[in-house]
Amino acid sequence: MKILNLYAGIGGNRKLWGDNHEIVAVEYDQATADEYSRVFPKDKIIVTDAHEYLLRNYMKFDFIWSSPPCPTHSDIRRCGVHAGQYEALYPEMSLYQEIILLMNFSPKETKFIVENVKPYYEPLIQPTYKLHRHFYWSNFKLTSFEVVNNRKHDKIQGNSTVYGFNIKDSKIKDKRKALRNMVDPDLGKHILDCALNKPPK
Ligand SMILES: C[S@@+](CC[C@H](N)C(=O)[O-])C[C@H]1O[C@@H](n2cnc3c(N)ncnc32)[C@H](O)[C@@H]1O
Repeated sequence: MKILNLYAGIGGNRKLWGDNHEIVAVEYDQATADEYSRVFPKDKIIVTDAHEYLLRNYMKFDFIWSSPPCPTHSDIRRCGVHAGQYEALYPEMSLYQEIILLMNFSPKETKFIVENVKPYYEPLIQPTYKLHRHFYWSNFKLTSFEVVNNRKHDKIQGNSTVYGFNIKDSKIKDKRKALRNMVDPDLGKHILDCALNKPPK
């Protein structure tokens, strides 16, 4: 499969995809991209804007995963604004732009998944699936998934080891955030298996 892994981060979702796919990962933070490359040296990593890259390249892949940033959609923002901790921001519409683009223009045989947090508002486009407080917009059947690896989000620190990732020696500025941002690798694998039509074991 030719896979496009957008907003790649340090690669939580990618960890268990194996080495048999041709993977292009897009991440705009150089230090994060360097860490991804260190762990997944066979992937091609491109340091650029993932949103723009998708628009130019969506027709070239068999499977597209997109994890656009969630801070402007998450309930943490809404609570923080009411508590006087954060200023209000417009919800980032690139999330819906990507969903609309992929739903309407991606080639029929391309499988895609866009994931984000459950937003604090009624989603402008209903998600195809809801799994573990996350919403997924996709064009293939996702079967349910049980989280075995129930990590304690609040306990994660910059020097923690999470899902086998330890980034304490990297140049990533906010290591705690990079670790907390990760999709559970088992879930990442489950979703790719669903796209490949592999029945769960
Ligand atoms: C939610 S995290 C991705 C987590 C990743 N899927 C995982 O499972 O580890 C989002 C990542 O997107 C990156 N990012 C944010 N905006 C971006 C943009 N416009 N283009 C490329 N990368 C971006 C951030 O630096 C961050 O690493």
